[in-house]
Amino acid sequence: MELTDVEVEALGTRGYFTRTSFLGEARALAARADALARVEVGSLQPAGIRRGADRTQDTRVRGDLIGWVQPEAGTPLGALRERFEALGQALSRGAYLGLGRFDLQLACYPGGGAHYARHLDAFPGQSNRRATAIWYANAGWVPEHGGVLRLHPEGEAPVDVAPGLDTLVVFLSERIEHEVLPAFHPRLALTAWFYGRDAG
Ligand code: OGA
Ligand code: MN
Repeated sequence: MELTDVEVEALGTRGYFTRTSFLGEARALAARADALARVEVGSLQPAGIRRGADRTQDTRVRGDLIGWVQPEAGTPLGALRERFEALGQALSRGAYLGLGRFDLQLACYPGGGAHYARHLDAFPGQSNRRATAIWYANAGWVPEHGGVLRLHPEGEAPVDVAPGLDTLVVFLSERIEHEVLPAFHPRLALTAWFYGRDAG
């Protein structure tokens, strides 16, 4: 996989880029079905906020259900994982991000106004999360479903990303504040957090 010049430029100057077709429709629909099956067996847990002893649940801050996934090769989500791996290599090659391993999380906002308040995924110097890549699995998304991702690039007007099937958004974890606006329909996403190569 290669990043386009426009993507590299956007990442460098604004701190993010989006792509509307990451897997292609057939593989995207299969990955969606795979993700949905994991949600339906009840493998996700309400997301917590803060870490360690301070950890708590607060649906006023975030209302999604999450689970870490390690999909096997040969499964539809395994194909997505491989695509994220290739993306990490392309980000390192094309944008000199020096990325190493990544964690993969499945998240479902059940609807009913579930949202995630404005935040950063990593604090400069405190974490080795360098890049966030989110792939959306929402076939048939319409604006009434809500759940838009709102990015807050420094010194720019906010940018909204519609979480439709096979859309990818990539942003710098330490730089781009973002939030999920209230979702009124179940909303599925897979997020890869890439760590620096020097991370443990
Ligand atoms: C997160 C997050 C955004 C989204 O899980 O940290 O910001 O669009 N998710 O799902
Ligand atoms: Mn986030």
